[in-house]
Amino acid sequence: MKIKLPGQKIKEKKAIEEPARDKSRKKKKDSKNVLSEKSKFAIVEAYKSARTNIMFSLSASEQKAFAVSSYAKGDGKSTVAANLAISFSKMGKKVILIDCDLRRPNLHNILKLENKAGFSDMVGRMVVFDDVVHRDVLPCLDVLTSGTIPPNPSELICSPEVVRFVERLNREYDYIIFDSPPIGVVADALLLKDYIAGYLLVTRERKTTHGDIEKLLQNIKLTESKPLGFIRVGVTHEGKRGRRGYYYYYYYQYY
Ligand SMILES: Nc1ncnc2c1ncn2[C@@H]1O[C@H](COP(=O)(O)OP(=O)(O)O)[C@@H](O)[C@H]1O
Ligand SMILES: [Mg+2]
Repeated sequence: MKIKLPGQKIKEKKAIEEPARDKSRKKKKDSKNVLSEKSKFAIVEAYKSARTNIMFSLSASEQKAFAVSSYAKGDGKSTVAANLAISFSKMGKKVILIDCDLRRPNLHNILKLENKAGFSDMVGRMVVFDDVVHRDVLPCLDVLTSGTIPPNPSELICSPEVVRFVERLNREYDYIIFDSPPIGVVADALLLKDYIAGYLLVTRERKTTHGDIEKLLQNIKLTESKPLGFIRVGVTHEGKRGRRGYYYYYYYQYY
């Protein structure tokens, strides 16, 4: 005979409830780093300075598109891509931000958008761009979320449909920003190289190593693409009362 102890019941309930609570907490955490009127002056300024440097790099290559990548997952690529897109759109330039991290998409959580269909469904010709793009998420900013997680992300990114799609975007937008997968793990991000001027690389304080950066640069060089610069995130500011809980961003031009 099975005896139900009172404690057991509580345990079972917890096991069901906790993952859901964790998920919503994580989503909240993801969107809290998005630029807004409440953002720290230093952070807004750091993004403005990154924006200026990227604009110079793009003007030299006559390209309107770039990808944001890093060595590993969780470095802050999607957060940086979203914030750069916001920063560019604030100049009144028409910007599109696309989630190409088809294995571990996160832009929709960061920007609190629906992701029933998106980039992968459009490339697979199940939907059309105009039906899935999120228009005017902010003035001048459109966003295309990742869509359904596909079994073959690499093949999708190389498909001729993407070539036609990027040609269209080049006609319709002033800046095209791809949030992409980590370069250290899979090659997907490097498959974007033909559509972009280069890669903006995110490094995270106390996580990204010199070895990681070397590998990143090597991989980019192998595909004959180029790094546009680095954004370093997660730099804590040491105040009088010890470490403060907010983050600075630094931009480094790559030579
Ligand atoms: N500058 C930052 N300061 C604090 N937390 C950050 C920062 N950038 C990203 N994060 C957090 O790190 C986690 C991963 O960020 P995300 O942008 O999704 O990384 P990636 O796209 O590289 O996987 C998220 O929970 C996000 O809220
Ligand atoms: Mg991401």
